Amino acid sequence: MSPIGVFDSGVGGLTVVKELVRLLPAEDIVYFGDTARVPYGIKSKETVIRFSVENTLFLLKHNVKLVCVACNTVSSCALPKIKNSFRVPIVGVISPGAREAVYATKNNRVGVIGTKGTIKSKAYEHEIKKLDPKVKVTAVACPLFVPFVEEGWLNQDVVLTVAKHYLKPLKEAKVDTVILGCTHYPLLKNVIKKVLGENINLIDSAKQVAIEVKKILSDEEILNSRRCGRSQFFVSDNPEWFEELAGRFLGKPVKNVRKVSSV
Ligand code: DGL
Repeated sequence: MSPIGVFDSGVGGLTVVKELVRLLPAEDIVYFGDTARVPYGIKSKETVIRFSVENTLFLLKHNVKLVCVACNTVSSCALPKIKNSFRVPIVGVISPGAREAVYATKNNRVGVIGTKGTIKSKAYEHEIKKLDPKVKVTAVACPLFVPFVEEGWLNQDVVLTVAKHYLKPLKEAKVDTVILGCTHYPLLKNVIKKVLGENINLIDSAKQVAIEVKKILSDEEILNSRRCGRSQFFVSDNPEWFEELAGRFLGKPVKNVRKVSSV
């Protein structure tokens, strides 16, 4: 049976792999992290679309039966384009996260945080408004969060100071639910709760994405029934860096990451 393909700009998409493996342990996974060209969050839409098409083509060479776009920036800026360009089912992270947020909010005030590209695209706002026009959305870009997480700075004072600054508009808007609209932000849940309060609902779309993938595979009758799936990891540069960081996102070490010369 063919594997599930997953791609991200780098290492953050492993938060989605973690949930896929948890929910679909029999599935094989081929992961591609575009570490040569990360970060995507500050790139133009045209560039993100071009990279995304190339990454999808790379996964298709591995005969994947579904592509999971485990990157918020790509899902926000390039999903319609790549969905129209390929026949394989393609799942992004925006709709699952938006659905869960609309379901979770009690006061109809939702915050969205993400990269500059994700926030500029307004993809989450559009999706939320489609689901429930009454929900008021406050969205802010938090560009320094990605390097903090990659440096392993998850609780330092400086992170708290920066988080207070970024999250001020969400506090003022009295949101009760916040979409963690970037692969890296689930690792900053503690700091975000320190700023917005313990009772804030933090939406991490990885779980919902895995549920959606399972539903599609089941509907199309292409779920794998083997007992133990295998994950393979490919990057476009620096496999050592990827291996070093992978454990933080996946919750277990990753070995034998392969560098591909071109995507
Ligand atoms: N994976 C990206 C996202 O979820 C964050 C890193 C980047 O900017 O490439 O938006």
